[in-house]
Amino acid sequence: MKCVSIAIDGPAGAGKSTLARKTARELGFLYVDTGAIYRTVALKVLRAGADPTEESQVIPLLKGLDISMDYGPDGEQQMFLEGEDVSKAIREHQISGLASKVSAIPAVRDFLLEFQRTQAREHNVVMDGRDIGTVVLPQADVKIFLTAAPESRARRRLLELEGRGQKTDFETVLRDIVQRDEQDRNRPIAPLRQAEDAVLLDTTRLNLEESLAAMLSLIKEKIHL
Ligand code: DC
Repeated sequence: MKCVSIAIDGPAGAGKSTLARKTARELGFLYVDTGAIYRTVALKVLRAGADPTEESQVIPLLKGLDISMDYGPDGEQQMFLEGEDVSKAIREHQISGLASKVSAIPAVRDFLLEFQRTQAREHNVVMDGRDIGTVVLPQADVKIFLTAAPESRARRRLLELEGRGQKTDFETVLRDIVQRDEQDRNRPIAPLRQAEDAVLLDTTRLNLEESLAAMLSLIKEKIHL
């Protein structure tokens, strides 16, 4: 039987992970956070002391790179690098910028493409990222492009980082978000953009419950579950 897939793309801090996770739980689908996979590659690059912008330094690291994914008892996605659980380590602020840089390397994207598609072949999924509706799952049953004003995304991201005990401030988070969006939007391969058949959902003026309700109603308009 064909599995159902829901693609959620958008810029950093638009609330993709939180909303995609809750949507998946609500629908009984598997949640796949593809940013976490890029972050795991970035951690490998960092640990190897390689320059994330230099293909010649990153490509050799992909050979035999052992990355895997699992789900904890609470349904949380866990990432493993060479067998080590790196789910926390990949959330460090520094990794965000590095992930954006390594994700611009075509060989990295190719390396992860099949890994992501396999999940959608084997499960009903809610998958979030930057190029899910455009490249990874162009045939997705529902495509949503989630966005919000940069200031509102920065405010949410700041709360999230503070909640994890990371020290930073609004200006730094806003600057990093704007810079990362630019990198993700302007890379030549699989740039962040709204697929033509994606529905735009702007959550600037919506709280979490309202955003979730809007997301579920968009999905239910498209597919009968
Ligand atoms: O969603 P995130 O912030 O965890 O993603 C980290 C970086 O990974 C993001 O800046 C760009 C990259 N990424 C990507 O290029 N394609 C995806 N499908 C997901 C993430």
